[in-house]
Amino acid sequence: MIVLKDVKKSFNDLDVLKGISMQIQDHEIYGIIGQSGAGKSTLLRCINGLEDYQSGEITIDGITVNQNDKQQLRLLQKEMGMIFQNFNLLQRLTVYENIALPMKFWGIKTNTPEAKAKIESLLDLVGLKDKRDAKPASLSGGQQQRVAIARALVLDPKILLCDEATSALDPAITREILSLLQEINEKLGITIIVVTHQMEVVKQICQRVSFLKDGMVLAEGKPEDLFVRPIKEVKSFLQEESALLPEKGVNIQLFFTDKSSDPVITMMARDLDIDFSICWAKLEDFRKNVYGSLVINLDEKDKEKVIQYLDEVGVGWEVLS
Ligand SMILES: Nc1ncnc2c1ncn2[C@@H]1O[C@H](COP(=O)(O)OP(=O)(O)OP(=O)(O)O)[C@@H](O)[C@H]1O
Ligand SMILES: [Mg+2]
Repeated sequence: MIVLKDVKKSFNDLDVLKGISMQIQDHEIYGIIGQSGAGKSTLLRCINGLEDYQSGEITIDGITVNQNDKQQLRLLQKEMGMIFQNFNLLQRLTVYENIALPMKFWGIKTNTPEAKAKIESLLDLVGLKDKRDAKPASLSGGQQQRVAIARALVLDPKILLCDEATSALDPAITREILSLLQEINEKLGITIIVVTHQMEVVKQICQRVSFLKDGMVLAEGKPEDLFVRPIKEVKSFLQEESALLPEKGVNIQLFFTDKSSDPVITMMARDLDIDFSICWAKLEDFRKNVYGSLVINLDEKDKEKVIQYLDEVGVGWEVLS
């Protein structure tokens, strides 16, 4: 488990992290989102010890990430693989040699049967067996990120840190890379932290997400809980436009973040024997579940009945003015 307790970090007099606390469970895919400059990359770099922090504590399985204990830090860093937006591959090396690089760095022989088998199995995992002798320049962006992922996994880390890993890729390739990350999470049981400004990434693979603003966590939870009924700051980050609503009657927004609420809308019409119109709706895919919200317009006289019904069936609602 990765635990952050009130972590503060500044560069000179610029406070970048202002007391960050979070707990990331083993085997979880955890997202960190927020505007440019919110402190996401800095947070990631503090977790893997590339950057120092001034106060608070970061622990990984109970061991403190501490710049003053270089030997300990090195061992912790071995447990953490990292991938970036620009892949960071060495152009003069082949795919195979790039993947082997961390082994060389750690003084592990790369010509042993075990090392070769490890690299071959990773080439297989990321689907690049036929590119083992190619140079990065001859690969597409998606393929280069696959090499970077294999390289990040070559020392069998427990944690994979991804900093905008899909931001340079088109939507189709992004989905492929996200599927690969999910496969890695499931097959190898690796904890994955995903820093991104792409909502699609969070919706597709993250089990939980933190929303960072100005170095503080303003919201944390399941992606559907954060995005379907967003707090003000998340709403403005998502740049969602308000729905154009009828002026007559009452408009009530319903929030669906739970599978059990699927048939509520038709059931309600039947049970209460009332009519209403759906005047706005947004349903989205979260880890293959469809969640979202819709706005219904109804007669003032039905308002109390409807609200009571929604409370009874446990669907979140809000009367819109
Ligand atoms: N090495 C550094 N020295 C001084 N200031 C820095 C340094 N690294 C980051 N900062 C500042 O810290 C703040 C947070 O930067 P950070 O890179 O963590 O943001 P981010 O959320 O990752 O943004 P982006 O989405 O653009 O990658 C910014 O104001 C940035 O200018
Ligand atoms: Mg960043």
